[in-house]
Amino acid sequence: MTPPGGSAPRSGGSGGGMPGRGRSGRIGGGPVKRPGRPSGPARRRPAPPAQPPSDVHDPQGVRLQKILAQAGLGSRRACEELILAGRVEVDGQRVTELGVRIDPARSVVHVDGMRVQVDTTRVYLMLNKPRGVVSTMSDPEGRPCLGDYVADREARLFHVGRLDTETEGLILLTNDGELANRLTHPSHGVLKTYLAEIEGQVPRDLGRRLRAGIDLEDGPVTVDSFRVVDAQPGRALVEVVLHEGRKHVVRRMLEAAGHPVLGLVRTQIGNVRLGDLRTGRTRVLNRVELGELMALVDL
Ligand code: URA
Repeated sequence: MTPPGGSAPRSGGSGGGMPGRGRSGRIGGGPVKRPGRPSGPARRRPAPPAQPPSDVHDPQGVRLQKILAQAGLGSRRACEELILAGRVEVDGQRVTELGVRIDPARSVVHVDGMRVQVDTTRVYLMLNKPRGVVSTMSDPEGRPCLGDYVADREARLFHVGRLDTETEGLILLTNDGELANRLTHPSHGVLKTYLAEIEGQVPRDLGRRLRAGIDLEDGPVTVDSFRVVDAQPGRALVEVVLHEGRKHVVRRMLEAAGHPVLGLVRTQIGNVRLGDLRTGRTRVLNRVELGELMALVDL
């Protein structure tokens, strides 16, 4: 795969990557649930505790139905119906009358319990990072970096976590610092899914050993889930799901378990899947992806 020199196009182009999988590293299977935590996609914000009513109305603001329509909830008429049906909350308060104006940069809006980002200055992108790209927004040594893929965007974006230079796959880019911090903070334990091509025959007990924990020099690591996707003589494709993000952790773990990694792709973060996004391409997260991601980190 050839790393880009400069800004990458946003759609089309050819895929690449490890043998034994599709062009994007897409794999089957439903959402992976971390034991003890609610699963991503199905999770909704719990009902807010009763709060004394506060005035969400901002006379200088924008009409709520217009904001909802701009956020992709449907036509203004359809958004009026949502409001009248009592399905919309602003700052924890149900709004059922039409004509309410709010400040989209400051208000927290939920529809049917799911957060809707109404601040149009916020940007949420996924990138399918190619191999050979460093996980920085700029590189003083001139190596291909994440910034090359969003150079034409006005917003000052940063990346959520990192992938090794040799690892491909899903990386999120945003200008929402709060979301980025929460997604990378260990307390939220957001699950990350990787597809690894490993050396050697997979023994029957590998999953059990990885679940029980592998000792690394900086402490043990456990997987939340493991499965063999494909097995060939002398090599295999395995999927591992972890909730931690130490440096090179997947490579180190599998190597310590006796199976050096030949290729690694991150395919999912929380509920957000790489899907068939081609290598080197970006796309904006859709409303449901973003709402579910925010719910995972209690936003
Ligand atoms: N684990 C690794 O080994 N590499 C990555 O890029 C991410 C997790």
